[in-house]
Amino acid sequence: MRRPLVAGNWKMHGTCASIKLLLNELATQVLPAEVDVAVFPGLVYLQAVGAQVAQSDIVVGAQDCAVQLEEGALTGETSALQLADIGCSMVLVGHSERRQLQDETDSVICRKFIAAQAAGLTPVLCVGETLAEREAGQALAVVQRQIDAVLVELGVDVFAKAVIAYEPVWAIGSGLTATPEQAQDIHAQIRAHIASHSAGVAQGLRILYGGSVKAANAAELFAQADIDGGLVGGASLNAKEFGAICRAAG
Ligand code: G3P
Repeated sequence: MRRPLVAGNWKMHGTCASIKLLLNELATQVLPAEVDVAVFPGLVYLQAVGAQVAQSDIVVGAQDCAVQLEEGALTGETSALQLADIGCSMVLVGHSERRQLQDETDSVICRKFIAAQAAGLTPVLCVGETLAEREAGQALAVVQRQIDAVLVELGVDVFAKAVIAYEPVWAIGSGLTATPEQAQDIHAQIRAHIASHSAGVAQGLRILYGGSVKAANAAELFAQADIDGGLVGGASLNAKEFGAICRAAG
C-alpha cells in the first residue's frame, strides 16, 4: 500500500521570521503518523528549515537542482549533491512555473531527474497541461509526453524511487481546483501508462495532485483511488490549513 504524501511547495515566499513562525505553528498541528509530510522552502532557507524540523518527521525538499551533479563553475546553480549535503531528501523537477518562466524543456528536466537520483534524492516529477491543451483534448497526451521524456530515456524502474505530481497548470494558484473526477481520471491514466511498462512500479508509485488544494477540498481529492496525496502551494503557507490537508490524507 502506498503511504500518502503531502508536500508544501513554498515557492518564492517567506522570510527568516515568517518561516520560523510558520514552522512553530506547524509544530502545534497534529500530523498523522501514517502520512509523509514534506516542505519545500526557497533555497536560501533550506538549511534553517531542516534544522528547525530536525526533531520531527517532516522532510525537506528543494524546488529545483542543477543539471550538473559535480561541483563546477556554474554561477547561481546548486547541485543535487549540495542539496543532499545540507539534508534535503527530495527535489521538484519540471514544475510548470519553471517550464514556463525558465523555459525548462523535457530534456533538461530529464537530466535534472537523473542528477537528483544520482545524489540520492527523490525527484518529484511535475507534469500537467495548460487550459488550452485541456480544451483541445490534449491533457493526457501532454502528461504522457512529459512522463515519457524520463521513462523512454531512463526506463520505468527509475519511477520506483520517484514521485509524480499531476498539476494542471490551469488549477495552479487560480482557485480553480480540478474536480476529484478530473484529477482521478488523469491519475488513473498515469498509473496505467506506468503499468504498461511495469505493474510493480505502477502499484508502488505515489501520484500527487497539485493545483489549489485546500483544507475544504483535500479529503474528496485524496479519497480517489489513484490520488496519493497533494503538492500544495498557497495553502502550505498557513499552518492550520496545511495541517488540515495533512490530516485529510490520513
Ligand atoms: O507545486 C504546487 C503548486 O504549484 C500548487 O499551487 O497555490 O495552486 O496550491 P497552489
